[in-house]
Amino acid sequence: MVTLGIDIGGSGIKGAPVNVTTGELVAERIRIETPLPSTPGNCAQVVNEIVRRFNYTGPIGVTFPAVVRHGVTLTAANVDKSWINCDAEKLLRAVTGMPAIVLNDGDAAGIAEMEFGAGKGVKGTVAMFTFGTGIGSAFFIDGVLFPNTEFGHLLIRDKDAEKRASAKVKEDKDLSWREWAARVNEFFVEIDKLFTPDLIIIGGGISKKFDKFEKFLRSNAKIVPAKFFNDAGIIGAAMAASKLQK
Ligand code: BGC
Repeated sequence: MVTLGIDIGGSGIKGAPVNVTTGELVAERIRIETPLPSTPGNCAQVVNEIVRRFNYTGPIGVTFPAVVRHGVTLTAANVDKSWINCDAEKLLRAVTGMPAIVLNDGDAAGIAEMEFGAGKGVKGTVAMFTFGTGIGSAFFIDGVLFPNTEFGHLLIRDKDAEKRASAKVKEDKDLSWREWAARVNEFFVEIDKLFTPDLIIIGGGISKKFDKFEKFLRSNAKIVPAKFFNDAGIIGAAMAASKLQK
């Protein structure tokens, strides 16, 4: 079965049809810059454009970079504040005319990696972190997700972890791999202390460069890169959408 997965991010909105039986993208993904201001209405238009450009009809899965409960977006750290308390599923259904499901971006990426990627078949506690504009997180126990964990906002040195150790911070401050990894390690110390994960999966675009920073990372957990890099969110979104068809 093929469904469309769309990943709304702080800088880009990306989508592709996905074979949800194998986890593979069946067409090259489309990326459109996140509109400014990144209001619900503006982002919904971009989602609709991606749907049309693939000539797609059917359920769509959409990730969002904030807390999403039952299709309603509750926070908006790196997007326009008018998303707070927006019924995003209802909006996307109205704009696209398709059945839609909306979920947190970190959770979507984690779902894809647990089913087809770096966490496949792993029992115990798995933590996935996506490093991008912010830091997304997804926690699993024996493959079951605990949704909407928000570890990017764990306080480290009195600042949100993502304000110290996201991929954007590395870029903005021109940090070396060693310097950035030291910040990530401070975050992992807290995560280890609180949750003792068995496995940590590193996701987001930066996971493609894992070989550059792997040697600097420290944790009591095993650390591995995501299999799908930055596409994990699209795949997890499409998997969620396929549930609408059952
Ligand atoms: C948000 C999370 C999101 C993460 C990655 C954070 O600022 O609070 O919900 O998963 O960024 O986009």
